[in-house]
Amino acid sequence: MAGKFTSSTQAIPDVGNIPRHVAIIMDGNGRWAKQRFMPRVAGHKRGVETVRSMVKACIARGVEYLTLFAFSSENWRRPAEEVSFLMNLFINALQGEIGKLHANGVRLKVVGDLAAFEPRLVALIREGEARTANNSRLTLTIAANYGGRWDILQAMNQLALAHPEKAGCYGEADLAPHLMMAYAPEPDLFIRTGGEQRISNFLLWQLAYSELHFTATLWPDFDDVALDAAITSYRRRERRFGRTSEQLGEPASAVPSASTPAPPVADDDA
Ligand code: IPE
Ligand code: IPE
Ligand code: MG
Repeated sequence: MAGKFTSSTQAIPDVGNIPRHVAIIMDGNGRWAKQRFMPRVAGHKRGVETVRSMVKACIARGVEYLTLFAFSSENWRRPAEEVSFLMNLFINALQGEIGKLHANGVRLKVVGDLAAFEPRLVALIREGEARTANNSRLTLTIAANYGGRWDILQAMNQLALAHPEKAGCYGEADLAPHLMMAYAPEPDLFIRTGGEQRISNFLLWQLAYSELHFTATLWPDFDDVALDAAITSYRRRERRFGRTSEQLGEPASAVPSASTPAPPVADDDA
């Protein structure tokens, strides 16, 4: 298999007690504010505090990658004032948090189509990424103007430009390195707060075999206890990756992979 990380569809990934990569759709900020008769944006502001506490909680639990969906490619459809508030919040959060993230050994990554953002924001993002690039305690990825379909398409286009001669024969290992999150293993645990049970165009490719956890807790209320509940639920799951329960004790190397299919059973009539 090419690449640094095991593809869940090409081989059997190692599975630990603690999810190595947690990906979260932070939903419910608007409803949190509405319940308190506050403007929706007050919920977004409060949501930043949850981000701060989740970064600490993930470090404390030994999670290596935390990925947060902050703004989807479809969130531009919101009222202009809310979009501009979110952009300013992002700028302020970057300015205020980068130093602390760096001091805590966090590597920051931002994935998404940054071309749509104002240059000041893009510059802050690039600076923050560069400053924290060598940290290894936790990789914090913020998905901003991100869409799962956009990601697959941009990877496809890069691959087609790099290897036009292989058109028609591209494999998973050709495409995967061009995806925005090629630097991370696939998420083990996906969490969506706020009660909706949908993916909303988040990491479509990478969630192939992630365990899904949906909670009604609104993002501003999501805390260490709620995170531990998600991890406890994750631990109870049997991650089979297509195998039977009985096969789970066998070494992964004994399992036929996609590239070495089991021989077909001989057919006497053939
Ligand atoms: C999630 O909270 C934050 C973003 C999408 C930016 P919402 O703003 O979607 O909150 P609800 O779903 O309306 O409560
Ligand atoms: C998903 O939440 C995107 C983010 C959390 C950034 P939305 O609130 O935009 O999702 P839908 O519209 O309810 O599917
Ligand atoms: Mg929402």
